[in-house]
Amino acid sequence: MDILSCIDKILARRSIRKYKKEPVTLAVKEKILEAGRQAPSASNKQPWHFIVVDAQAAKEKLSGGRWSGFVKDSSFVVIGVSLPFDDTSRKWGIVDTTIALQNMVLAAEVQGVGSCWIGDFKEEEVKREFGIPKEATVVAVVPFGLPDEKPGQHAKKPITEIVHMEKW
Ligand SMILES: Cc1cc2nc3c(=O)[nH]c(=O)nc-3n(C[C@H](O)[C@H](O)[C@H](O)COP(=O)(O)O)c2cc1C
Repeated sequence: MDILSCIDKILARRSIRKYKKEPVTLAVKEKILEAGRQAPSASNKQPWHFIVVDAQAAKEKLSGGRWSGFVKDSSFVVIGVSLPFDDTSRKWGIVDTTIALQNMVLAAEVQGVGSCWIGDFKEEEVKREFGIPKEATVVAVVPFGLPDEKPGQHAKKPITEIVHMEKW
């Protein structure tokens, strides 16, 4: 894929909440996870952990919220977890893990796989259900799957409102 079509894909990305039944292939899934592994992190500390959830019953456990009901229909889910172990990772762990998850979202997008960030989860319940250490932070839940919808463009703020040249 050339640079322009890669940028076009990033610009056209939308959150996908309807998925085909057909699963994402292992090769594509591995590329998505590798994109997370290769993400930048403060002082290269990589304080992230990713739980890959394929099992239907477990996906259903992540679908209980008002804004997460569709998670169960995804091909697989990644739970992004920050487990800090020093001052740098305590300061930057959530940012690092967020960057890694978004790398996965974009790696999925360029391979034709849709995804949606999910903030609608109960952290303590997710920790208990998936055996996540209590000192960790569950950053987000991201379901992935072959898109079965084409959502329209969401309104985004104009560039002039959010980009400040030289000073605010
Ligand atoms: C941190 C975060 C949490 C989100 N949580 C949810 C969620 O719980 N359920 C949901 O359907 N969408 C969720 N979204 C998706 C946003 O609603 C979506 O990104 C936004 O409306 C812009 O749409 P777009 O992604 O198609 O550009 C979340 C996005 C982010 C970044």
